[in-house]
Amino acid sequence: MKRVIVVAVAENGVIGKDGRVPWKMGSDMRHFRHLTMNHPVIMGRKTWQSLKQPLVGRDNIIVTSNPDFKAEGGHVVNSLEKAQEIAEEFAKMRGVEQIMIIGGADIYRQTLPHAHLIQMTEIHAQPEGDTFFPAIAQSDWREIARERHEKGRKDDYDYSFVTLERIAKPSK
Ligand SMILES: NC(=O)c1ccc[n+]([C@@H]2O[C@H](COP(=O)([O-])OP(=O)(O)OC[C@H]3O[C@@H](n4cnc5c(N)ncnc54)[C@H](OP(=O)(O)O)[C@@H]3O)[C@@H](O)[C@H]2O)c1
Repeated sequence: MKRVIVVAVAENGVIGKDGRVPWKMGSDMRHFRHLTMNHPVIMGRKTWQSLKQPLVGRDNIIVTSNPDFKAEGGHVVNSLEKAQEIAEEFAKMRGVEQIMIIGGADIYRQTLPHAHLIQMTEIHAQPEGDTFFPAIAQSDWREIARERHEKGRKDDYDYSFVTLERIAKPSK
């Protein structure tokens, strides 16, 4: 089972501001939907609360330390290990080979050492923000695909879709 990080990162490493994503990027939303559809998605409690509704057609798995947290339309777990465990079960039921890890920074930081693939959208801008993607050790990852696009009608900025594959084996 492959663990795949899906993220949109600005050139300055920003991924969020005030609990939201600091850009409007319709093209990236379509790309995100395409990558994650029919898969389990693991996210932190703050990212869940930034969504307007559960991501349809996907198993929404929300990680929180709060045992009483309720998430309508999602599955709440109290550890990343449990998230991984139920994500694998959902993936098997759906007949897919990938578990998608969709943020935010806290979740990326903990899962990066165990991820196999990163599906990264580079946002060609340097917006202000308060949440950053963790530094990637260049020696651990190899770029296997890159597509640059000019911004479309529903995008704030130009962007590139980049796929990174781990060179070294994930640590677990
Ligand atoms: N650009 C992108 O691609 C992208 C993607 C996703 C999110 N974002 C942005 O990133 C920001 C949110 O990121 P964030 O780092 O602040 O929060 P987050 O990672 O979404 O959620 C953090 C919360 O997850 C729970 N958690 C994390 N690790 C846990 C563990 N090991 N066990 C149990 N619970 C755990 C905790 O919830 P409790 O406090 O409830 O215990 C923690 O406070 C927002 O601005 C969002 O819009 C951007």
